Amino acid sequence: MSRSLPIVHAVPDEAWPTQAQAAESLLFSPRVLGPRTSLRRTWVPAMVPWRATEEGFVSPAVIDWYARFASGKPGVLVLEATGIRDVASGPLLRIGHDRYLDGLRQVVDAVRQASEGQTLVLIQLIDFLAIKRRPDREKYLRRFLEITSELREKLSALLGDPRWTRASESQVRERLIALDDSVLSRVLDPRALESLTHGHRERVTDTHLEHIRTLPQVLPTLFAEAALRAEKAGFDGVELHYAHAYTMASFLSATNQRDDGYGGTLEGRARLPREVVRAVCERVSPSFVVGCRLLGDESIEGGSTCEDAAFFALQLAHDGLHFVSVSKGGKFDDAAQPKVGHAAYPYTGPSGHECMPTVRSDARGPFGRNLALAREIRERIRSAGLDTPVVAAGGIHGFAIAERALRDGDCDFAASARQTLADPDWFEKARLGRGAEVRRCKFTNYCEALDQHHKEVTCQRWDRIRPGDLPESPSRIARDGRRRLIAPEWQP
Ligand SMILES: Cc1cc2nc3c(=O)[nH]c(=O)nc-3n(C[C@H](O)[C@H](O)[C@H](O)COP(=O)(O)O)c2cc1C
Ligand code: SF4
Repeated sequence: MSRSLPIVHAVPDEAWPTQAQAAESLLFSPRVLGPRTSLRRTWVPAMVPWRATEEGFVSPAVIDWYARFASGKPGVLVLEATGIRDVASGPLLRIGHDRYLDGLRQVVDAVRQASEGQTLVLIQLIDFLAIKRRPDREKYLRRFLEITSELREKLSALLGDPRWTRASESQVRERLIALDDSVLSRVLDPRALESLTHGHRERVTDTHLEHIRTLPQVLPTLFAEAALRAEKAGFDGVELHYAHAYTMASFLSATNQRDDGYGGTLEGRARLPREVVRAVCERVSPSFVVGCRLLGDESIEGGSTCEDAAFFALQLAHDGLHFVSVSKGGKFDDAAQPKVGHAAYPYTGPSGHECMPTVRSDARGPFGRNLALAREIRERIRSAGLDTPVVAAGGIHGFAIAERALRDGDCDFAASARQTLADPDWFEKARLGRGAEVRRCKFTNYCEALDQHHKEVTCQRWDRIRPGDLPESPSRIARDGRRRLIAPEWQP
């Protein structure tokens, strides 16, 4: 990646506002969010911290994590991507059953208390398809690869020996194992080759599989039930995860060529996401916020563009969605090849860089990199006479850039993920005229590398426990015993 991203940008110096200037700012002024009003236009987007239990329950570390963000009193805090199904998915938070309610309620209570009731708390609802780890070559060819007649034909043609069309399956397998990689890649069909080199990954277009074909029948209810649980747990609303590498984004994707009315045309691709919104809105009360996060640009070859995203956003806004949060990229399609035994990670390729841009970038740099997408989507919504708020994220690193984006009409809420991870108090420091105390994010993605390996996410600016530090409670120390799980305290 470094060849195509040759410039290392400095994090810009920040002219922090005085308290009086902050009081006059748009950033620290209220904004209507559907049936609620956010006291500020500051927004913490979803970040998975890998702190849930193996069964997907809220742990004490999850509560500490969100309480810490809430003490910075952002206008809106969105909990991490949370699975809507009642299936095992490792230490990813889940909301697919009522047994998760108690824990989620405790998070909501902790956020209300730490923000003194000043932060709206939403939860991001996610569905995702199966992805397998990259297999060992021999194991895959000996056990998992399907030996089809097409494969036998290709093998026979390449080896110039028609007997391979009739050879036993185990003979074919052993012959494949003995092949050179370059020859093997000509024998396997593209999906089988991908399963070998990157691990098998289901797609929404695998309609020969019943559980994929029936997604449009199953998902509206699953999302609606999860949203109802979120309301029962006391959240102010939900953010439907229609972005990045997951099921709903795959329905919206230009690569979705399903021929059952849920793909192909723009209307077909938008159909299931719209049906989910309608199902959710029917299930929850009118005072509950229902928004979504979608991609302003998929940033992959043949992927959806901002034009597509503006179409989707407008349709969803017409359906009554209360906000549209704009992200970019983060796809499996161009993810780096994982090591054997590891799964592909959708933030490792060029589209991943667009999602979480670092200081190593192209001439445009990482800061406010996606604002133009948010602006185009917002303009489309406004020109249709709708006031649906648009949330922008991506390299929003301080007060000035956020305020400028709001004043210029790029967005209605300015979302900061990594800057808030680096310093959850940065909103309060800026608001109180104490911006010089902000711990600035370095935008080098140490946190994202931890996320990639499903390790408890921390920030390199605050995580080391040094000799002489005050003892931390055990729930605030990472499993490796060396890192703080929570940003250091700040006294306003
Ligand atoms: C550790 C980590 C975990 C993330 N998890 C999620 C997630 O669960 N859902 C999501 O939509 N985005 C997720 N993101 C992306 C962020 O919400 C955000 O869009 C991205 O980091 C760009 O914003 P920033 O430049 O302010 O960091 C994650 C980002 C990081 C750094
Ligand atoms: S680890 Fe690095 S990129 Fe991540 S929040 Fe901290 S300073 Fe920013």
